[in-house]
Amino acid sequence: MEMKIYPSILAADFSNLGNDIKNVENNIDGIHLDIMDGLFVPNISFGTPIIESVRKITNKYLDAHLMIVDPDRYLEDYARMGVNGITVHYEAVTHLHRTINKIKELGCDAGISLNPHTPVFLLEEILPFVDRVLIMSVNPGFTGQKFIPEILNKIMKLKKIIDDRNLNVVIEVDGGVGLKNIKELYMSGAREFVVGAGIFHQENPSNAAKKLKEVVK
Ligand code: DX5
Ligand code: ZN
Repeated sequence: MEMKIYPSILAADFSNLGNDIKNVENNIDGIHLDIMDGLFVPNISFGTPIIESVRKITNKYLDAHLMIVDPDRYLEDYARMGVNGITVHYEAVTHLHRTINKIKELGCDAGISLNPHTPVFLLEEILPFVDRVLIMSVNPGFTGQKFIPEILNKIMKLKKIIDDRNLNVVIEVDGGVGLKNIKELYMSGAREFVVGAGIFHQENPSNAAKKLKEVVK
């Protein structure tokens, strides 16, 4: 599978969000939506109105990353708004198999995210049911944090499990991703890259997205 770049709009300028998205649209594969409730993570980001506005202005893949407790309460809402993928946190869900099935019934790709401290072996039973695993390479909550280098090893471990079992699961990585580590992350097995500051905090966000793709080619 080729690599995909999903800019996180958490790092965009919300007073200029439509333009920020249009500006990078040609060089990206989808938009990453960081939804935070102030409970699961120490930050509150955005909800329904922003997601609806983003869906109106782009046909790109919308990749919703739910950093919220009890995400089951909102799965139908997100699907109705037209997001394409829904990722929940392993640490935030009790009946993960039920949640994953629900996401798929709603017609979305289903993902599980792991915080930096959560080991990949915990996914053993659920892995065949999911489309993606989102490996957090920072502690979730904020854009612009420093990449945790030990995560490369974690991605390699997960890649081996997926390959050994011949599963069709994509590895996505999120947090502190940019020009200096994207190649290594690709070599470790990641194929989907969430990038916030590495795109929207750059002088030319569109070029920054393009360069990230070129590094891996
Ligand atoms: C962190 C979010 C990330 C974040 C990425 O809690 O899940 O998606 O916005 O931003 P950067 O690339 O700046 O670390
Ligand atoms: Zn995210």
